[in-house]
Amino acid sequence: MWSVSEWVSNGHLPTAEVVQELVAEAHLRFAPVLDGQVADYIPALAAAHSGHFGLCVSTCGGALFEAGEARESFSIQSISKPFLFALICQAIGEEEAREKLGVNSTGLPFNSVLAVERSGEGLSNPMVNAGAIAATSLAPGASSEEKWAFIQDGFSRFAGRRLEIDERVFDSELATNRRNAGLATLLSDHDRIWWDPDEATELYTRQCSLSVTAADLAVMAATLANGGRQPVTGEQVIEAIHCQHVLAVMVTAGLYETSGDWLYATGLPGKSGVAGGMITVAPGKGGLATYSPPLDEAGNSVRGQLTARFLSERLGLNLFASRAEGSR
Ligand code: DON
Repeated sequence: MWSVSEWVSNGHLPTAEVVQELVAEAHLRFAPVLDGQVADYIPALAAAHSGHFGLCVSTCGGALFEAGEARESFSIQSISKPFLFALICQAIGEEEAREKLGVNSTGLPFNSVLAVERSGEGLSNPMVNAGAIAATSLAPGASSEEKWAFIQDGFSRFAGRRLEIDERVFDSELATNRRNAGLATLLSDHDRIWWDPDEATELYTRQCSLSVTAADLAVMAATLANGGRQPVTGEQVIEAIHCQHVLAVMVTAGLYETSGDWLYATGLPGKSGVAGGMITVAPGKGGLATYSPPLDEAGNSVRGQLTARFLSERLGLNLFASRAEGSR
């Protein structure tokens, strides 16, 4: 059984004025960047505005600092994965979750089939599609409706408000996600899925279609930074111990095959989604969320990555940064 030590390696954020200034500066700096392509393999996502760019920082005390389109809605997509994993760890325990899903990075794209085949046991990790579909299948409930109620309720508690599906995105992905259905079938061949594969795929697609804003994602990320306590509502959504395990998997696999580059640049756990959202978690300090639809080749928001790198440096968030004793 794991537990959180009395001593944790957290510092604190600069003053509110400095955080707001830097959030505004990040928006000014990166809004003109035009690199990247809006995802179109889910037809409904192709309609996104490539120029829209919002960001929000939530402190662990629940203060929000925003710039740009921080209140514009978009589908959560793969940013659902860490929150689902958190809820599953809470439901079945972190050891059982690790044994059933795996926690090692694949170094492969998010929808890789090889990710399932390579371990020989069908194990991947809950940040890639295969592991996330397997995690979805573990949601408590005797029917898909009960499982969905568990997922929607859990995500809503992270956000501090009722989250609803973007039906247009859901229908569009459900009609086109043959690859995810194939991954679920493959998992079933390895006995690595614990619900009907087609229904698990549908539940996974549903959770990816939950509509959020950067402001929602910032407080959701801040909940993971805050020992599982939602900073605005004060609700203990998951036990503190689960946060460190979720963040560990995010560090190694949150940006798929570019997770190493991400960690080198930010020194923080992060997670991206193909609708253009991205979260970065600074344990003990807060959460950053960005929304900007143009993506790089690996499916990660271009402006989101630039913003996370800039704010990690300027807000002093990098978990690996230190100064020599006596030089402060
Ligand atoms: O499974 C899919 O293809 C999408 N619902 C989610 C993929 C995704 O967001 C990948 N992330 N960058």
